[in-house]
Amino acid sequence: MLKFDFANIFNNKIPNGINKDTINDNKKIIEESINNIKNNNPGFVELVLSRKWIDSVLDINNFVKSFDNLVVIGIGGSALGNIALQNTLRPLNWNNFSKNERKGNLRIFIIDNVDPDYVSSILDSIDLKKTLFNVISKSGSTAEAMSNYLVARGLIETCGLSPRKHLIFTTDPKKGVLRKIAKEENILTLEIPENVGGRFSVLSPVGLLSAMAAGINIEELYDGAKSAYYRTINENIWNNPAALIALIHFLYYQKGRNISVMMAYSNKLYYLADWYRQLWAESLGKAYSKDGKKIHIGQTPVKALGAVDQHSQIQLYNEGPNDKIITFLKTESFDRDIKIPYIHIDENSLNYLHGKSLSQLLNNELLGTETALAQNGKPSLRITFPKINEFNVGEFIMYYELATTIAGDLFNVNPFDQPGVELGKKITYALMGRNGFEEYRPSISDEGIEI
Ligand code: PA5
Repeated sequence: MLKFDFANIFNNKIPNGINKDTINDNKKIIEESINNIKNNNPGFVELVLSRKWIDSVLDINNFVKSFDNLVVIGIGGSALGNIALQNTLRPLNWNNFSKNERKGNLRIFIIDNVDPDYVSSILDSIDLKKTLFNVISKSGSTAEAMSNYLVARGLIETCGLSPRKHLIFTTDPKKGVLRKIAKEENILTLEIPENVGGRFSVLSPVGLLSAMAAGINIEELYDGAKSAYYRTINENIWNNPAALIALIHFLYYQKGRNISVMMAYSNKLYYLADWYRQLWAESLGKAYSKDGKKIHIGQTPVKALGAVDQHSQIQLYNEGPNDKIITFLKTESFDRDIKIPYIHIDENSLNYLHGKSLSQLLNNELLGTETALAQNGKPSLRITFPKINEFNVGEFIMYYELATTIAGDLFNVNPFDQPGVELGKKITYALMGRNGFEEYRPSISDEGIEI
């Protein structure tokens, strides 16, 4: 189970900080928000309270495991959850393992951009005959996902392979071009439930298929997520991580802390910070309040990696403006550890390292950074993973999806839409010559000034 430490949030060195009374004063609005979640389970909660979605991927386990590679094609909420699950729950060099070492599970590649160098580098490294492509798009229309689908399909056809045997779509149950093609060509599909948006979809077939393909225990992911949900709806605010995370971020935002840094002291957990970045940004960064007032609100999420960013960001966090609240992610148990050897034993400046482990150094660096920030009056909280496993990652995902929903009520915005993404998409369609989008084509003067 995850452990949460909020002590440095209530540190009295923080200028214009918050105290425990401030939390108690907001109990009512938090209770209302949680009751709302309890009474009208959001789609991302419904997912984990049913076996339907787990079963939908387990049903095709044998088909999936007949391949050696799975290439996921998607972007945003259709990719970031997959990337997070793969990198937190599999060794970071998983794709270099032999099939034996992978115990028959698949190598996983996730194509979430249309940079041709990047796409080619992935497509060049796989044997198409042994590859299944999972095209994920809720809308079935996103330009990046659709073009990478066409590229992949072009290759499949050029190699004389049957697209139907190498493709599986994950998309809306009714709408979109992927659904249409799947019906026409009898291509295997998985559903993204209508009431689950991209960035809340990691525990739907969006993330479950690649997780299962890589041998991740998806039942335990769900167990962790369910335990986080039940704790959130049953516990009072002081024993309620999702509610506290939402409330302290909101309260500090009101006090000018408009940046939320998530700093992971683990390369694996860093991918959760990446997933969080989209969730917090797209859900809470809004022009209008729920009641239609122009508010331009939102807290900018930033990801950071310890110890690397101690040598890049920490100067700013310690001494720069009072505009940040920081969340540290820590693990108490790495999969592997490395002892620092006794070399140069007479060197005074090195012998404090001899015989220590890298994990010990990293976690002491975390403690050092956290303590320095506290002494400088900067608020932070810490989330500890006793181990990075499926249960704890499932918990983390659900806590943050719930915290984002509660924060939506506090910030008074709809956390489930993203109207600000639409205009850029439409202009891109116009620039690429898509029919019906001509009016969005920028005029010459909008196209920039090159010097
Ligand atoms: O969270 C979201 O809704 C977005 O980030 C989408 O996931 C992203 O735009 C991709 O959309 P789609 O799955 O429709 O291709």
